[in-house]
Amino acid sequence: MSEAQDDGSHKGALAMADDMHILPPHFYTDAQHHATEIHGIFEKEWLLVGRGEQLRDVGDYLSLTIAEEPVVVVRSESRQLVALSPVCRHRYMRMVAPGSGHVDGSFTCDYHLWRYRLDGRLSAAPFMDQTPGFDRSTCRLPVFAVEEWQGFVFVSLDGGSPPLAPRLAPVADKLRRYQLADMRQVAFSDEVWRCNWKVAVENGSESYHHMGVHPELVEPKIPTRGTSAGLRGDAFTSHRTPVAQEDTRQVSAARPDIGLTEEDLSEMNVFTIFPSTIILNFQDLVAWFSFLPIGVDGCRLLNGFCFSSRLVEAGLIDNDAMARFMCGVNKEDRAISELVQLGMKSTRAEPGMLSIKEVQLADFFEYVRGAVSTSGPGKVT
Ligand code: FES
Ligand SMILES: [Fe+2]
Repeated sequence: MSEAQDDGSHKGALAMADDMHILPPHFYTDAQHHATEIHGIFEKEWLLVGRGEQLRDVGDYLSLTIAEEPVVVVRSESRQLVALSPVCRHRYMRMVAPGSGHVDGSFTCDYHLWRYRLDGRLSAAPFMDQTPGFDRSTCRLPVFAVEEWQGFVFVSLDGGSPPLAPRLAPVADKLRRYQLADMRQVAFSDEVWRCNWKVAVENGSESYHHMGVHPELVEPKIPTRGTSAGLRGDAFTSHRTPVAQEDTRQVSAARPDIGLTEEDLSEMNVFTIFPSTIILNFQDLVAWFSFLPIGVDGCRLLNGFCFSSRLVEAGLIDNDAMARFMCGVNKEDRAISELVQLGMKSTRAEPGMLSIKEVQLADFFEYVRGAVSTSGPGKVT
């Protein structure tokens, strides 16, 4: 695929899929293959870590682990976002625990109290002046690449991936009336799923499972029967699923006009941004999901729900209700994904075929195969 396409038909999308089989089990269970994916995918690509609004003030930070690499994203004194390695340059201690927080101007290592500015430069190192060869001025925390796109903060460990914004232009255009950069996050979840990261991404990248997994929470609002492949591009694929009109009418009637059109409100668009980010619109909600691997058979899910700042400031969004909905849906998706992971360990497991309702997964499989086939050692078959 060289450019975004939206032919609007199942037939067109199917014609594009060379192989309608899912990936073989060892892609999800084999430690050596997993190492190849880490090298070929997660050490290179742009990975979503949160929203810029979570880092509003100087010193606000997000701390997480990407493929065993500790990373801290912080709002620095120049108000730029900086992604740092929070591993002390003295004796390797990870200085900042995973999660979010705020520091006043510096990160201090609790072991021997070395201190670093928010741009990574060393500012204090007790009793180090008499160490021959130690140069305080060149000692600093390494940095990673960071890019903010539409209010979403992405990190790339090696910075070798091309800039995200041009490749996501069709996504930004499709969701332009939501004014993504100005949305407010009202619910957030950080949880661990016992399944390979791809199982979770695949589950989030199709609505074929709504009828089976979410018969009460999702299917009545976003029924499986209407789902079809949507926009596609080099950096993403997508699907779209019509939203039940009665449900949309009820939501629209209760809230002021914020500039969304009938098209925006009547259809959920789910964008799978390679490798492991999902962003979707559903009525006036925009939800984001980021799946980060924890070994071959686990992953961390970061998930946020965002609404127009106008709706949030007017007190029209029930944050607790949104958090409950998020928790309920994730619980169902997690349970089914963990059962899939168990099934993949069967000696009798072999790749099944995709239905017409999930054909966009072929794009994801093609991306994964391409990424691992050009990377270092590992089993790719
Ligand atoms: S390990 Fe950080 S100050 Fe010693
Ligand atoms: Fe689901």
